[in-house]
Amino acid sequence: MSIYIDPEVAASLRGYEVPERLGFGTAMAPIMFRAVYQDGCWSQGELIPYAPLSIDPAAKVLHYAQSCFEGMKAYRTQAGGIALFRPEKNAERMAFSAKRLCMPPVPESLFLDAVRTVASYCANLVPGNSGESLYLRPFLIGTQADLTVSASSSYEFYVIASPSEAYHSGSMRLWVEREDARAAVGGTGDAKVGGNYAASLLSVGRLKERGYDQSLWLNPSDRNSVDELSGMNFFAVIEGTLHTPALTGSILEGITRYSLLELAESLGYQVVEESIPVDRLLSQIASGSCTEAFACGTAAIISPISVIGDAEHCYELQQAPGPVAEALRQALLDIQEGRAEDRFGWMQAV
Ligand code: COI
Repeated sequence: MSIYIDPEVAASLRGYEVPERLGFGTAMAPIMFRAVYQDGCWSQGELIPYAPLSIDPAAKVLHYAQSCFEGMKAYRTQAGGIALFRPEKNAERMAFSAKRLCMPPVPESLFLDAVRTVASYCANLVPGNSGESLYLRPFLIGTQADLTVSASSSYEFYVIASPSEAYHSGSMRLWVEREDARAAVGGTGDAKVGGNYAASLLSVGRLKERGYDQSLWLNPSDRNSVDELSGMNFFAVIEGTLHTPALTGSILEGITRYSLLELAESLGYQVVEESIPVDRLLSQIASGSCTEAFACGTAAIISPISVIGDAEHCYELQQAPGPVAEALRQALLDIQEGRAEDRFGWMQAV
């Protein structure tokens, strides 16, 4: 099914340029994609000017959080084209998240057509500096107006876009969150749903007052092993080996996470996916056997971690990215930005 292009789209895009100061997710492209699900069918989908949504105050999403989303990027390649990184993986993960919330998955072909269309119409809004990109935010919401606790019968799928730089500039100070849990095993921790992020906000508020940047979430069942950050996966280099927590059901399976695991192995690093007890990690930092820690994600790329602390301790790592983080960041960006051969077949030209 081809996408309907609203005649106002061209006028909305006219004269619109990449903002001088980018930040993350603050400047929105002036167009967006929308498709509607009703009576068991998806509409054709349309590219329309960016505008506030009109939504019934009784819509299920507003009360029962039937909402999931994706984060992905369009890159300007060295050859001047625009390319997406593994978009079929985002389609797959969004279908998984949708099913967890009893929502109809967006068909892969509709998802891919939508993100490709937004990226190609916004080609002039894809920034050109390394580490910058057009961040795409597909999201799906339940729109039926009805206060019974039941799955919505109608849904809307949108893709909005924002020319952005990396989510976090510089190194991050992590607070080991020992009070709250972000998501329960058997709950929605492995799905990309808005509620997981809402559950992280109170912790973030507390840690900012203490001079930290991000929560380091622990597994909600054992309250001892490292899970992830609120919007990024966790990696550490321990005795020269790259470690990341094994998936537990309460960790989001990051596309950057498993791409880095593949990339790291191809670069000759030894990679271990297993439980990381937080107190053992802290003593490994104190003793010097953990030499690097970093977080990764679509928005974050790779961000070095300079401090991990809690109420009693504050353990310092180096401020600058360590050699492993730097090598992986460069190798990943080289593929995404078209400077290196795409030997894994990850990139899709738009
Ligand atoms: C992403 O990395 O794309 C995310 O969704 C994380 C965060 C910005 C919510």
